[in-house]
Amino acid sequence: MRTLTVDLGDRSYPIYIGADLLSQSNLYRPHIRGKQVCIVTNETIAPLYLEQVKQGLEGYQVDEVVLPDGEQFKNLDTLNLIFDKLLEKRHNRTTTLIALGGGVVGDMTGFAAASYQRGVDFIQIPTTLLSQVDSSVGGKTGVNHALGKNMIGAFHQPRCVLADTGVLSSLPARELAAGIAEVVKYGLIADAPFMDWLEANMDALVAKDGEALAYAVERSCQNKADVVAKDEREGGIRAILNLGHTFGHAIETAMGYGEWLHGEAVATGMVMAADLSQRLGWLNKADVERVEKLLLRAALPVKAPTAVTEEDFLSLMAVDKKVLDGQLRLVLMKAVGEAVVTSDFPVETLKETIAASY
Ligand SMILES: NC(=O)c1ccc[n+]([C@@H]2O[C@H](COP(=O)([O-])OP(=O)(O)OC[C@H]3O[C@@H](n4cnc5c(N)ncnc54)[C@H](O)[C@@H]3O)[C@@H](O)[C@H]2O)c1
Ligand SMILES: [Zn+2]
Repeated sequence: MRTLTVDLGDRSYPIYIGADLLSQSNLYRPHIRGKQVCIVTNETIAPLYLEQVKQGLEGYQVDEVVLPDGEQFKNLDTLNLIFDKLLEKRHNRTTTLIALGGGVVGDMTGFAAASYQRGVDFIQIPTTLLSQVDSSVGGKTGVNHALGKNMIGAFHQPRCVLADTGVLSSLPARELAAGIAEVVKYGLIADAPFMDWLEANMDALVAKDGEALAYAVERSCQNKADVVAKDEREGGIRAILNLGHTFGHAIETAMGYGEWLHGEAVATGMVMAADLSQRLGWLNKADVERVEKLLLRAALPVKAPTAVTEEDFLSLMAVDKKVLDGQLRLVLMKAVGEAVVTSDFPVETLKETIAASY
């Protein structure tokens, strides 16, 4: 097992990474401060892993909420199911929520914890690769609104994160690949040596090799923890974690949520960001091809869907939440392993990138 720390002063917390951690409740029990626990999961994950987690919680009042599965349920209505249960079972301010699931369950549970009785503790047990390397770390929580993804939320850090790479054995291949896109993101924004490692180990990752997965999760979490420690509330540097996301969100939104997985849209978005960086003279063509090749090895899409037109891209990117003071800011690359946030590019060049992305 490997342990990392997210360094946030008195709100610092550990990330435990390894195989078969679900059965090791000694890891997370010390982070439960009261006598009450509420496990939040969904109908896909409950039959697979809920019993195992419950077994480790002997001695506590344990309640559970099993949510419907899907991004379309990541909304205020579904969130209420968590509050209903907490109030019905009289959970008080010392309760601890446990998020057992992917990013959807994690984001909703975190937001429920941020707002229930003005804030209670929560623990993340992420079960997708994406949630292990990204959403469970850093304290962004929330739900979607009909008019925008993740538009209602709060910053609320977990007490600990338990990333059991063993649970990835049941994860569908397409979901694994979506998580790999976020792993590649860390290499591209700040970790050139990790890009080399990924090129040497992509086949092992796709094959769910345990050692390779644990290393990728650890290195990704380390990268994320470093950025979050510097800029918890995204006043500046944290924005680099959104590489590929402004393009990607446009694809997700235009296609309708659920059609393209988030990680798939981010993969194509990162290729578009690389292309624009190349047009600005920062990357060379070989760099762009390198990014594409690596993502293709994980069977990720690298071309935008023709159903998303140039106008769709421009209008959807303009409302993306990364827009500050009316200026479209994008995360681009000065080099492989060095991201920058900039609004310093001609719109004409952005249009060339969109035109070349199909
Ligand atoms: N908070 C953040 O910083 C942050 C960062 C990135 C993404 N997100 C959010 O995360 C969400 C996406 O997360 P996700 O990709 O984990 O999707 P998800 O939570 O929808 O999980 C994907 C699918 O895999 C299933 N699943 C989960 N674990 C499984 C397992 N071990 N075995 C079999 N099936 C399993 C789920 O039930 C679901 O059907 C989005 O809502 C996104 O906005 C948040
Ligand atoms: Zn993402």
